[in-house]
Amino acid sequence: MKLVTIIGARPQFIKAATFSEIFRKENQEVLIHTGQHYDVNMSDVFFDELGIPKPDYNLGVGSGNHGQQTGRMLEKIEHVIMKEKPDGMLVYGDTNSTLAGALAASKLHIPVFHIEAGLRSYNKFMPEEQNRILTDHVSKLLFCPTETAVNNLKKEGIVSGVIHSGDIMYDAVLRNIDISDKLFKNDIWKTSISSKENSKIQYLTEKDYYLSTVHRAENTNDISKLKTIFEAFEYLDKPVLLPLHPRTRKLIDESNITSKNVFIINPVGYLLMLYLTKNASMVITDSGGLQKEAYFLQTPCTTLRDQTEWVETLENEWNVLSKIELDSILKSVLRKQECLKYPQPLLFGDGHAAEHICKAIINGGFNHE
Ligand code: UD1
Ligand code: UDP
Repeated sequence: MKLVTIIGARPQFIKAATFSEIFRKENQEVLIHTGQHYDVNMSDVFFDELGIPKPDYNLGVGSGNHGQQTGRMLEKIEHVIMKEKPDGMLVYGDTNSTLAGALAASKLHIPVFHIEAGLRSYNKFMPEEQNRILTDHVSKLLFCPTETAVNNLKKEGIVSGVIHSGDIMYDAVLRNIDISDKLFKNDIWKTSISSKENSKIQYLTEKDYYLSTVHRAENTNDISKLKTIFEAFEYLDKPVLLPLHPRTRKLIDESNITSKNVFIINPVGYLLMLYLTKNASMVITDSGGLQKEAYFLQTPCTTLRDQTEWVETLENEWNVLSKIELDSILKSVLRKQECLKYPQPLLFGDGHAAEHICKAIINGGFNHE
């Protein structure tokens, strides 16, 4: 069987690593990198450390407004599909790359397989929510990471082709956590971050720092929100390590936002990110993927958003949503952790989601009407 797979943004590289290895044992995969993320530390680092195959096509689309970026991808992906004539198109998640791949294939009557289908925040202002809904509605096979996702699709009348596969990001954590431990334990991780970047990281100790990432449009389009987040960080009882997405870095540099309690570093590779997550006292983030990794690695989390698609992580207050207001952030982060009871990682599958997805695609799943 021949699949065309679309990847383009950081979390998609991580998800693709697990699936590609299994699928390629007996099938052909044509990998398209849209070029949505292109900095070395947003793209190449993941290919190098996770052994992701070199893309067959790099569309080099780069950054831009939504319509411009998605439109450029759509045109170029269509061209590749017409040349490669695949049996199916595989897309991951909810980025503009996801939507462009799904739309290009659907218009050419190529069956679309969507990994991470059925997630909903019920906030249509989020670009990701629009991308998810549209992608799900043109997909033939919809691989849901959770039972909640299956039910969300049912509410929209989508039941055919829906498969509860488990979460491919849970697979990725299980595959990589021991490797990450071995590579970075005993403070070795500090040597992999240049002292020029931030010499203060030498003072961080395990379970005595917060790990944060911030990049979501709703928190970065409005500079006052970013200022509030930084202000809250200034009042926290432990330093905040912040591997910063280039989008947020630009804003911070332009508006001179600072905080003595925040240690900013460049984005790091996945293996180091797992290590930093496991050893943080709490994760503070607006990332979808990182919320779950915190949960899988038993690190409490505060999510800097009004909604989450990953509602399972909210159980027992393991993850808590916070409005972007000073009091709310401080209250959420400083909540009592002693009595936190760790919930159920099995809500995200059995750690073999990639195998289940592979089987469903190969076993004629694509003929599903
Ligand atoms: C995108 C996804 C988001 C996902 C995130 C993962 C959409 C609409 N959003 O958001 O769902 O959570 O990826 O990280 O698809 N930039 C660089 N270098 C890069 C990449 C980006 O400098 O390698 C800067 C550019 O200024 C760019 C900005 O970051 O304009 C935003 O990048 P973009 O890919 O449009 O969106 P993300 O915020 O990364
Ligand atoms: N991540 C990483 N390095 C970083 C920040 C994040 O490897 O500096 C990983 C993180 O561990 C997770 C994924 O990137 O696996 C999440 O991506 P991101 O937050 O960019 O997107 P989202 O999940 O919100 O779509």
